[in-house]
Amino acid sequence: MQNKLYIINKKLETSILIKKNHISKFVNDIANKNEKVFCILDSNIKINLNIAKQKNIKIITIKCGEKIKTFNGYKNLTEKLIRSDVNRKSALIAIGGGTLGDLTGFVAGTLLRGLNFFLIPTTLLSQVDSSVGGKNGINTIYGKNLLGTFYQPKEVLIDISVLNSLPKKEIKSGYAEIIKHALIKDYSFFCWLEKNANKVINLNKSILEKAIYKSIMIKLFYVKKDEKEFLVNKNSRAMLNFGHTIGHAIESHYNYKKFNHGEAISIGMITEAKISNYLGLLSSSELKKIIKHFKKCELKMSDKILKNKQLLKKLTKDKKNSQNNINFSLINKIGSSIFYKKLDKKKVYKILQYI
Ligand SMILES: NC(=O)c1ccc[n+]([C@@H]2O[C@H](COP(=O)([O-])OP(=O)(O)OC[C@H]3O[C@@H](n4cnc5c(N)ncnc54)[C@H](O)[C@@H]3O)[C@@H](O)[C@H]2O)c1
Ligand SMILES: [Zn+2]
Repeated sequence: MQNKLYIINKKLETSILIKKNHISKFVNDIANKNEKVFCILDSNIKINLNIAKQKNIKIITIKCGEKIKTFNGYKNLTEKLIRSDVNRKSALIAIGGGTLGDLTGFVAGTLLRGLNFFLIPTTLLSQVDSSVGGKNGINTIYGKNLLGTFYQPKEVLIDISVLNSLPKKEIKSGYAEIIKHALIKDYSFFCWLEKNANKVINLNKSILEKAIYKSIMIKLFYVKKDEKEFLVNKNSRAMLNFGHTIGHAIESHYNYKKFNHGEAISIGMITEAKISNYLGLLSSSELKKIIKHFKKCELKMSDKILKNKQLLKKLTKDKKNSQNNINFSLINKIGSSIFYKKLDKKKVYKILQYI
């Protein structure tokens, strides 16, 4: 399968190519068109370093994980690039998961006021979600992704052959974002996933490619409508945050150690689906259906911190919220989402004790 998708709006054009065993060619093509190319490579990726056949390619290897999305991670990478004579005609290629992509995108958008940026996502999560849409950034002690830019990569290559070395726990983390896309936008995709989840998780090639393609199309729908998250309606990019208000607070509370991103947002999605049900938006039968699917896929669904006051502090630090109110992107049925503005934090605490 070879698909090429496009995001096109007034200012930008990003191409997303889905193609197997294509990394070497992709990197060399970029090297032919750019003066100097830096491949920022996740140290867990075992790809042949022959990708750097050309003299103008330099490889910088980083041991990845949420800990690189910090001031220190930003400092280390920018200083390494400056020492290696990066210039405005240089291109950065991030070859790794969402953490590497988010950090490198932020560096590419800010270093020398902007460098050419390319992405080769290597986790399922980054292939179906974080590599699409141009958001990047780092965390602060006060919360996740509080520093960042919108900076679109010129091209993204999705190559599923790299997923063979990815641990099951990380595959499931990516699956959580796939199911999120279905829950907010596409009931028939949810039904298809009910039948095919095991095949996606076990990397059945054609089923996996279809799940990735469908997922990207849903994410693109929102990015095209609302690149910078300005809208406050059902087409807002904020709908993609379903499960993330709670999920980000959990990740931040545990300092990104107890759960990976997909696990935290799985707990977030179930909790926010329960909040949707509590508020009379989502029916109990649909809630049950969602819980059944999460159980079948052995996705995380709960954690003791949900009932703890400390979580509220983290929730109000989320960049979408004000001091006393919390915004949620909720679902009103499977495949349909709505923006729920300004839920008072005392009420949120009460709901969390009840559900
Ligand atoms: N920018 C966005 O729009 C957006 C969207 C969703 C998530 N995110 C961010 O993405 C991050 C999570 O990304 P992630 O789940 O890819 O985590 P990650 O980058 O930490 O990767 C997970 C683990 O897998 C390893 N790995 C990566 N590719 C591998 C491969 N092919 N084989 C073996 N091991 C491999 C990594 O070294 C790491 O240990 C979070 O910080 C989240 O906030 C961003
Ligand atoms: Zn996410």
